[in-house]
Amino acid sequence: SLPVPNVQQLASRYEGVPLRYIRPELELERVSKDEYDRIPLIDMSKLNDNVRDGGDDDEAAKLHSACKDWGFFQVINHGVAEEVILKMKEDIQEFFSQPLEEKMKYAQLPNGIEGYGQAFVVSEEQKLDWGDMLYINAQPINRRNMRLWPSSLSSIRASLDQYSIELEKVAQSLMISMAKNLGVEPEKLLDLFKEGVQTVRMNYYPPCEQASKVIGIAPHSDGSGLTLLNQVNEVQGLQIKKDGKWIPVDPIPGAFIVNVGDIIEIMSNGVYKSIEHRALVNHKKERLSIAAFHDPNVDAMIEPLPNLHTLDQEKQAPNYKSISHQDFKKLGRKMKLDGKNKGL
Ligand code: SIN
Ligand code: FE2
Repeated sequence: SLPVPNVQQLASRYEGVPLRYIRPELELERVSKDEYDRIPLIDMSKLNDNVRDGGDDDEAAKLHSACKDWGFFQVINHGVAEEVILKMKEDIQEFFSQPLEEKMKYAQLPNGIEGYGQAFVVSEEQKLDWGDMLYINAQPINRRNMRLWPSSLSSIRASLDQYSIELEKVAQSLMISMAKNLGVEPEKLLDLFKEGVQTVRMNYYPPCEQASKVIGIAPHSDGSGLTLLNQVNEVQGLQIKKDGKWIPVDPIPGAFIVNVGDIIEIMSNGVYKSIEHRALVNHKKERLSIAAFHDPNVDAMIEPLPNLHTLDQEKQAPNYKSISHQDFKKLGRKMKLDGKNKGL
């Protein structure tokens, strides 16, 4: 059984929102109603042209400032076929719409994060997120636990497989441009992500009558290298913290939202920022999202890239200690247990 209630079922039986989901801090942290800045929009076809034939580098400069000043951006013309994204979206919507017993066939194992359930529930007192998730290891293939890959729907395994492969490619081509922007040989970064670990977190946030008092995913920065997020049904909910304020991210149909995770922050020696973000829920509509996390391979050291130069070629001393990939993940778990949003 689940360590905490299934939120989808809780919401469907509506008997008031239990206190464990109510977040008093939201009262103090209203999002300003003012005009807010939009996160940068990057055209990947222009980036890739620049990598191929060294043409116009405006887009590369835009990417560099997006990674430095925002830690978040959206990408269009990313090369992932529309059908691949559409199929993934349809199948995950279908998965969550199944009866609970069906979904529970893929329930998290005790003390495991993989499978269907909730993230990082560590104590009886802890406030809970208003959402359920299906979390799977996608790459490399030998890390997949097929017991937790839904098999009851005809196409979801194939959709996930395709989606995983395609997003891996997007992440890699972004890393080529990011490395170039940092003045690092792209192979140096790509080597660390060769046979890289990719996990996929599919989120389902039921509507909530007290939407303004609950949180879908509490504030955190991603422990990943690079995260690619797809707002499945284009219901707004993601917010990022910029200059002390929460800024909503407006989904653009067909685009992926990309964010720099803690690992790329470290590898860039802090030039790129892993930004705190959260997901809110909607009053009337369910919200779904798919986050694909791209991490280095299991043997990679997590440390600032050697010979890292800033754009003005001034060499920087490492701002972060070296740590093995395994120890980094352990540290990440400990940090969650300690209730910290960010472990750096
Ligand atoms: C996140 O994964 O941190 C946010 C996901 C979402 O926007 O639903
Ligand atoms: Fe996140």
